Amino acid sequence: MTINNLPTLTTPRLTLRRFSEQDGQQIFDNYASDPMVARYVTWNAHTSPEQSRQLAKAFHDGSFGAYQWAIVLNQTGQLIGNISLVETDAEEKNGMFGYVLGQKWWNMGLATEALTETLRFLFEECGFETITGEYAILNPASGKVMEKCGLEFVRQDVKLVPAKNKQVDIIVRRITRDRWYQINRKELP
Ligand SMILES: CC(C)(COP(=O)(O)OP(=O)(O)OC[C@H]1O[C@@H](n2cnc3c(N)ncnc32)[C@H](O)[C@@H]1OP(=O)(O)O)[C@@H](O)C(=O)NCCC(=O)NCCS
Repeated sequence: MTINNLPTLTTPRLTLRRFSEQDGQQIFDNYASDPMVARYVTWNAHTSPEQSRQLAKAFHDGSFGAYQWAIVLNQTGQLIGNISLVETDAEEKNGMFGYVLGQKWWNMGLATEALTETLRFLFEECGFETITGEYAILNPASGKVMEKCGLEFVRQDVKLVPAKNKQVDIIVRRITRDRWYQINRKELP
């Protein structure tokens, strides 16, 4: 996959699309400048719209890899977060995802909706074999989303978060392609 052929994915309430270079202000206003949003992620809250503009450009360019979607609300067109593969192996069979939504849109099932569609795409259209997620133990909402999407407990670990200069207790969860097909009652191709 390259960023130039990343498809747009849709769900009842969301559109997951490639970032454009013009998305910086919405990234800043709707999620990245909020310290509560950045509390348990690997980056710090943005302190200037310019920082978010650079991020939009990097997402758009594919500097962080190809699988980087902006999460847009169908009803209003607002860009409210992002979901992405933060790592993949060279064969693009195993990936690790990350996601973030602005606080106004928490606890409405939107991350579950976005992750379900992303997993469907990665397993059914791209041929990934495993998708992994990691979350801070202090961030149980993220664990709940992963659990609802079928990711199973793998291990507890401690991870250094360089941007925050601290060690964080995390839980690793994972879903395999076989399990995805099993829980969605689909026949493996
Ligand atoms: C993690 C995040 C993406 C979840 O998004 P969301 O759209 O609110 O998630 P959903 O609404 O789909 O599901 C959240 C679930 O967590 C539950 N939850 C919320 N707060 C909780 C808490 N403190 N303890 C336990 N469960 C909690 C909700 O009740 C819901 O479960 P339910 O559907 O069974 O009721 C969002 O909180 C976020 O963007 N946080 C900031 C960035 C971040 O931490 N990203 C994850 C890094 S691993």
